Amino acid sequence: MKKLKLKRKYKILLFFITILLAIIFITLIIKNIIYRNSDKYKLLERGYSYKEVAAFEEKLSKKRIEKLTTTKKNDVIYKIITQKYYISKNLDRYLAYQALKPETKIKDVIAIVNVNADNEWYDKNTVKETDMSKGDLILVNKFNYLKPDYIPDDLETISIQYAYNDNQVRKHVNKAYIEMWKQAKSDGVLIIASSSFRKYEWQDTLFKRYTVQKGEAYAESVSARPGYSEHQSGLTIDILTTNTTMASFDQTDAFKWLEKNAYKYGFIIRYPKGKTYLTGYSYESWHYRYVGKEVASKIYKEKITFDEYYAYYIENKQN
Ligand code: DAL
Ligand code: ZN
Repeated sequence: MKKLKLKRKYKILLFFITILLAIIFITLIIKNIIYRNSDKYKLLERGYSYKEVAAFEEKLSKKRIEKLTTTKKNDVIYKIITQKYYISKNLDRYLAYQALKPETKIKDVIAIVNVNADNEWYDKNTVKETDMSKGDLILVNKFNYLKPDYIPDDLETISIQYAYNDNQVRKHVNKAYIEMWKQAKSDGVLIIASSSFRKYEWQDTLFKRYTVQKGEAYAESVSARPGYSEHQSGLTIDILTTNTTMASFDQTDAFKWLEKNAYKYGFIIRYPKGKTYLTGYSYESWHYRYVGKEVASKIYKEKITFDEYYAYYIENKQN
């Protein structure tokens, strides 16, 4: 009798164990089916690595990931989204630019698209009045203009002790410039402000003069069209020294000093060597833009142009 009871108990136990195992088994099968239908599995099947898939999951939208599961393995997308200055809203443009110019380094593709240089300079669908609320960080370039009648209301004349005749900048820029001038002087270097604030009309005259004298292409490479010059902002100074021309300024001790120290006073070299594809202008060793000490340090340390800085650290971050 006792034996029989025990047998029944075993039978019940066995029954439950069987049910449990069945549940575990079915769960595993379902899990497997779900996994095989997941984007992650499909991406791995397409040949992407675990590292790539993890980056996609972190940086791409669900829709974009789904698309990747149904298209041929894309070898550049991972490189693009892991770049330091990657901006997610630009992804389609990075891909389009890369497809158009596959020889371009990915780092450059990011920079070019970020500064809009995947469009023609002054492209009529891209140009806009610059956002004046940015203060010292307003962007003035071949896509962002100042109104023709814009004149800063706090212009000051730079004393002729530090400048050639008739140079004006905004009050706080004058102060920063003089501070820089004094340090340069005590380090044995003479710097001279040679051109700073320029009214719209004056820029117009200059640009036309270059065009007449040296042709349109040359004018575009060295001069801004009226409204598109940083000189109209009152935040910019062309700096030279004695016994030099603009073309040879970068051979002087004054330039070498500025290259190393200008950022400490809030100034940056606005059109650096080798960055024409981003700025639209030839290298200008003499053109310094005031952006404040903090931003100037960052630009100096990261070796980027102000256009890149603005796209990534200002426009991108505010969205
Ligand atoms: N030379 C600079 C680009 C200007 O004309 O503003
Ligand atoms: Zn200049």
